[in-house]
Amino acid sequence: MKSRKIIGWSFALLAFGLITSCSKSSSSTPDTTAYFPKVKTIIANNCLSCHSSSGSWSGRPTAFDSDSAIASSATIINTAVAGPWTFMVKKMPQGSALSAADIATIEAWVNKGGKATD
Ligand code: HEC
Repeated sequence: MKSRKIIGWSFALLAFGLITSCSKSSSSTPDTTAYFPKVKTIIANNCLSCHSSSGSWSGRPTAFDSDSAIASSATIINTAVAGPWTFMVKKMPQGSALSAADIATIEAWVNKGGKATD
């Protein structure tokens, strides 16, 4: 009788432990925001007119019209919109600038990993 009670309690504790550890691990994840969909929209609205295989190209063969093309250029895209600008990486979009909010979104995405899943 006594041992049954102990077994019952240990199951209860085990179940409780599992539940709390599960909820803990999901709530301790620092950042679950997916930035990439927003980044894609920013690129579509501000960059694809020049940087796409169907766009004007404007003298540079850099196309951002696929998820993988955007992700593999994450760092240089970040530099192009936020600086520091150099002779090699000029300020983009050419002739204008993104809003501070858009630049912050791109920076947050690159800091998170700069992948199509980030
Ligand atoms: C009006 C056309 C135009 C738009 C819009 C534009 N770019 Fe560019 N981009 C260019 C040109 C032209 C170059 C080449 C500049 C040079 O090297 O003199 C360039 C170069 C770059 C480069 C450097 C890599 C390379 O191949 O030279 C990056 C990165 C880049 N652009 C990103 C962007 C991003 C991100 C946006 C949108 C926020 C954007 N561009 C919008 C015309 C454009």
